[in-house]
Amino acid sequence: MLNKYARSQIFFHWLTVLLLIIAYATIELRGLAEKGTWQRNAMMITHFSAGFSVMIIMLARLYLRSRKTTPPVTPPLARWQTGLSHLVHTLLYALFIVLPALGLTSRYLRAKEWSLFGLNMPVAATPDPATASMLINLHETLAPLGYWLIGLHALAALFHHYFLRDTTLRRIMP
Ligand code: HEM
Ligand code: HEM
Repeated sequence: MLNKYARSQIFFHWLTVLLLIIAYATIELRGLAEKGTWQRNAMMITHFSAGFSVMIIMLARLYLRSRKTTPPVTPPLARWQTGLSHLVHTLLYALFIVLPALGLTSRYLRAKEWSLFGLNMPVAATPDPATASMLINLHETLAPLGYWLIGLHALAALFHHYFLRDTTLRRIMP
């Protein structure tokens, strides 16, 4: 019988994919709405809220991962393939926890009104615009790395499925 990831892990994996599409799409397309309009504000709040959710889900996934054994691939992978996949997974976890954390901290230090899911969020008593803009610059520099990592990760999954014909992808399909 096929050894699969736990249902919760499969659910969170694909929910992350959906939320990342929303987070990237809203911010990349923000130029379609003028600054100050409700449409632009809605795009920003959606970006913040989807990004925040990604961070919480990635933390939950790390917890689940520590509690469950990763299902083996059949036929077994070469050592370099396992090593490379672990490296890419580690970078994905790190990026999608650090990236939202930078965004959230920057909004907090900027100390202007902002919200998640329409709820006003706390802000620093004393604004620190210099650190806030340094953190958001770092956020904007690191964000495109996600495209490369996800691209590499998804291509590897397809390569395993269609060329190596192993169970890598089927283990994480709903
Ligand atoms: C997985 C989570 C996230 C991803 C993938 C992500 C990705 C991005 C990308 C691609 C950009 C645009 C870069 C550019 O145009 O040069 C951006 C900008 C930005 N992000 Fe995020 N982000 C995430 C989470 C967050 C969170 C949680 C916040 C704050 C609560 C946030 C706040 C911002 C801000 C303020 C900008 C600059 C917008 C502007 O200058 O108009 N991001 N982000
Ligand atoms: C269409 C896109 C995607 C496909 C086809 C895909 C496929 C897969 C496959 C086959 C695995 C199992 C790999 C293994 O156990 O060696 C996996 C695991 C994983 N995927 Fe994706 N994935 C996609 C998108 C994403 C995205 C956007 C993220 C961003 C966070 C992501 C993060 C992860 C992580 C962190 C793991 C490791 C799970 C663990 O063992 O803890 N994936 N994915």
